[in-house]
Amino acid sequence: MKIAILGMGTVGKGAYETAKTAGGIEVVRILARHEVEGYEHLNEIITSDIADIAGDKDIDLVIESIGGIHPAREYALECIKAGKHFVTPNKNLISACYDELKAAADESGAEIRFTATAGGGIPWLYNLRRTKRCDEIQEVRGIVNGTCNFILDSMCDKGSEFEDVLVLAQAMGYAEADPSADIEGTDTLRKTVISANLAFDADVKEEDVPCYGIDTISSRDIDYLKSMERAPRLMMNAAVNGNKLCVYVEPVAFPMTAMEASVKFNFNLITLNARDIGTQSFYGQGAGMMPTGQSVIQDVLDIRDGVNHTPASGEGVEKRKLKLDNKSAVHRYYLRCSEIGSEIEKIIETSEKKGDVYYCSTKPVSVIKMHEIAHKAKSDGKEMFIAALAE
Ligand code: HSE
Repeated sequence: MKIAILGMGTVGKGAYETAKTAGGIEVVRILARHEVEGYEHLNEIITSDIADIAGDKDIDLVIESIGGIHPAREYALECIKAGKHFVTPNKNLISACYDELKAAADESGAEIRFTATAGGGIPWLYNLRRTKRCDEIQEVRGIVNGTCNFILDSMCDKGSEFEDVLVLAQAMGYAEADPSADIEGTDTLRKTVISANLAFDADVKEEDVPCYGIDTISSRDIDYLKSMERAPRLMMNAAVNGNKLCVYVEPVAFPMTAMEASVKFNFNLITLNARDIGTQSFYGQGAGMMPTGQSVIQDVLDIRDGVNHTPASGEGVEKRKLKLDNKSAVHRYYLRCSEIGSEIEKIIETSEKKGDVYYCSTKPVSVIKMHEIAHKAKSDGKEMFIAALAE
């Protein structure tokens, strides 16, 4: 099979290296703006013009690893419309533009695969897709951002300060180019949208998902949560509740005995619950050149070999018609703040003042309400951190 790679960043290089050893795949074109350092021997096949790839009838499949939406979306559409199969690790693109790409692919007869968009090197979406062929998914949840896990684990384990460990995560190459996507939860949000839409044949949009990250956490939260025998982790959550679907991203304070609390460094842990098989968890490297590159090439091999797990929107799949409703997601929270206004007063169950800081537990409160209060505090420049209290 002859393939092209758009973008020779970390994942593009990982895909190229894996393709060399996988056998039966030949990288015949690479889209890059400049010569790629360390890959000067590929200069002959490098082009900066997408038409050289979209217009080349010999190319069967295109890997897009440019990242972001533009020009990735335009290049993807050009290649898909030309009938080329399409594989990408680009979560921004799939979260925002999947329907458009899929419609183009249905018309041209191309296949689209995106296993590496959530869970990086973990075959999470592959197994989710496979499980739902003969089961009904009821919940998907997990730690899907390695940068945040690395930060939280280092703060808990080594007593590191947030800012110091974020710099370290950037230096180690885990963080996004703009790390606010990691710490504000946007990266987790995109992986949640992709996972939820696949799991539930839903049509969840990024803007409909409440999201609160870990950018307001401090070592005081870690210390207080430790005194409660808990550790925080940033979680994707998507679950069926009757005919409703709750989908949101937020920090969760887990009992130290929970599996999530023992996830170290930048590892991911993703879990599904299904009607017949019950709980299954997937653990491993959610990022990095070779894990993610290999996941991309596994998708390429599946397309080449005709392995098809009936896509979420494929024929024969009965739509569950679940309605997104985060008001029905209700639980208790840990909350740290510097002042207790009337909105907070209404929801707190217990509070303890230490110095000028209040440490509170809330009554059961809806995700929507809690996020609204926490985002308002952030935009008003007030101190606050929240974490759901896992049962
Ligand atoms: N910044 C992401 C993470 C990279 O830390 O998980 C993989 O998607």
